[in-house]
Amino acid sequence: MALRPLLSEAKIQARILEMGAQIDADYPDGTLYMICILKGACYFLADLSRAVKRDTFIDFMGISSYGRGKTSSGEVKITKDLDISLEGANVLIIEDIIDSGVTLSYLTGLLEQRKPKSVKIATLLDKPERRLRPVDVAYVGFQIPDEFVVGYGLDFDEKYRNLRDICILEP
Ligand code: IMP
Ligand code: MG
Repeated sequence: MALRPLLSEAKIQARILEMGAQIDADYPDGTLYMICILKGACYFLADLSRAVKRDTFIDFMGISSYGRGKTSSGEVKITKDLDISLEGANVLIIEDIIDSGVTLSYLTGLLEQRKPKSVKIATLLDKPERRLRPVDVAYVGFQIPDEFVVGYGLDFDEKYRNLRDICILEP
């Protein structure tokens, strides 16, 4: 399999700074609860949380709709729940990529039941062509074509997460 560069580290970091400034401008004063969807979004959380200037609270949630490999199983399961209550909180879900939308449409519904003040989504990548379920995404880093990508947290069978650039994985 070959890797074709799609987004360089510099381009990713510049865009994340813009997203952080936008988030700071949009939210009222107070703590922002950033909920990272494991594992892929942990690099994005680390950079985006440092790009916002307000107080943040971070926590992690394990949820997966993908089995091994490149095709979705269509099943969503929680593998790790939050340690904190979201009652009255401004919640920003941090995701690496939105593909079918199955994972996030399920997750936003679940988190809304926990009585937060607001729930919004920030995703680094979006593949709009692949959507099966509608998802309202407040912050998108980059819209990308329908290609399988790896790097900057994104994996193929757990490999390539630690690449600094985002690359298309070609057969
Ligand atoms: P969705 O429920 O189909 O939107 O699935 C989103 C999840 O699928 C992401 O959090 C990723 O874990 C995984 N995924 C979707 N597209 C890609 C890709 O191109 N590369 C790596 N993982 C992907
Ligand atoms: Mg993921």
